[in-house]
Amino acid sequence: MPDPERELEPPLWEQWAAKSAAMPQGERLQKVLATRGWGSRRVCEDLIADGRVTVNGDVAVLGRRVDTEVDLVEVDGVPLGVKPGLVYYLLNKPVGVVTTASDPQGRRTVVEIVPAEPRVYPVGRLDVATEGLLLLTNDGDLAHRLAHPSHGVEKEYLAEVEGTVGGGALRRLRDGVELDDGVTAPAKVSQPSPGLLRITIHEGRNRQVRRMCEAVGHPVTRLVRVRIGPLRDAKLRPGEWRELGQHELKALVEAAAGGTRGVR
Ligand code: URA
Repeated sequence: MPDPERELEPPLWEQWAAKSAAMPQGERLQKVLATRGWGSRRVCEDLIADGRVTVNGDVAVLGRRVDTEVDLVEVDGVPLGVKPGLVYYLLNKPVGVVTTASDPQGRRTVVEIVPAEPRVYPVGRLDVATEGLLLLTNDGDLAHRLAHPSHGVEKEYLAEVEGTVGGGALRRLRDGVELDDGVTAPAKVSQPSPGLLRITIHEGRNRQVRRMCEAVGHPVTRLVRVRIGPLRDAKLRPGEWRELGQHELKALVEAAAGGTRGVR
């Protein structure tokens, strides 16, 4: 005689089916790859079609959905996943957006551009008038190491300045400029065209590039950050952001450890 109590309980497989039906289906593999920096959707579709992507050890087929919290995705045997819960966004900050979590003047902030959850913070800052690459993450450990002056990764800027910069001023910019908070560390400086400077520094002082250029008589009229350590992205347009790829993250972690000051 069947136990009436047990009859009330749905069989285990039914419980499991109901649970998985209620669960999100995951994201399409090509989208996951694209947002992790493996290339455009088209390029990622080709990676899958070429059999270079595996999910939990099996060669993946196009259209497969994955949950990166539980599925192990590998491209050419390299795992895709980062530490669960940690996110790393590369943003091209537009002019007029502030690099703080909130602004008393009500201006748009960088954290309003990227997803609200999980909450992320900018690593370092760019002036409201400066454009270009900015890293946002909830990985406090890496952010701290990147911001630490002793590990200070290289930051590369393109600066449009007033006038054409002469040899003496270029030398001063390279050797160190006397500012009100001390002399700047040696910098890499070139002038690819008259009035356009490419400046690489590894300090992170307030308005440093603007103050350096002003000190040698060439105020900045436009400033764009084009590289943070190993990170570059000439295709990311102002206001756009994307997640870092695995290789970028690995290179960034190395840079923060003092291994490299940048990959050229
Ligand atoms: N130097 C500046 O002057 N401004 C920035 O935003 C970054 C570096």
